[in-house]
Amino acid sequence: MKRSAILAAMLLAGAAGTAALAQPRPYVTGPQNIALPSDWQQRFVRYSTVDNPTRKIIRNIFINPEAFAALRPGQPMPYGTLLIMADQRARLDAQGNPLLDANGRMIPEPAFIAIAAQQKEPGWGEGYGPEQRNGEWEYARFSPADGSRVAGPLTACFTCHLQARAQQDFTFTTWDYANRPR
Ligand code: HEC
Repeated sequence: MKRSAILAAMLLAGAAGTAALAQPRPYVTGPQNIALPSDWQQRFVRYSTVDNPTRKIIRNIFINPEAFAALRPGQPMPYGTLLIMADQRARLDAQGNPLLDANGRMIPEPAFIAIAAQQKEPGWGEGYGPEQRNGEWEYARFSPADGSRVAGPLTACFTCHLQARAQQDFTFTTWDYANRPR
């Protein structure tokens, strides 16, 4: 073999090797598809905060900046949207009722007590039945202490978002934010 031919063969083998490595693993439904980015607290945009006086919690809702920039009224969320909802306990008065600030908003205790996420990627959702499937969304829960995955059933996440928000791309605050009056 001429040297150039050997080189070409090596390059081809190399390219094939790289392609094999880059081959994504086949998609299987489940929360393992969602990874909590280590820098989400620094990088993500908190676009909504919901006071829940009944549960005495404050829900902070974040979105990755790339998806935030791509939100459009009337449009489904862009692929790559990662929504993170991090709850805090409300500060309570002596009677156990939430204290309010000057704007009438509940006052959060510092720590997050729960983290829920939903993410949308092309082809996700394939494999769930129609009673559960939320388009191309997956759901997951993470530990607020160390960001590790929290095990447990997620069926209720799917059914509630499906029943209430199928026409809003399965989101509550994100759709409402993108379609807010301006
Ligand atoms: C009974 C209905 C219900 C269930 C069950 C539910 N959600 Fe939600 N979810 C909501 C509502 C309503 C909101 C809007 C915030 C609020 O008002 O609390 C929301 C908001 C969210 C958001 C913020 C983005 C958005 O759509 O506004 C994420 C992320 C989320 N939920 C994930 C989950 C996960 C993960 C689970 C399961 C562990 C879950 N949800 C279970 C009703 C539900």
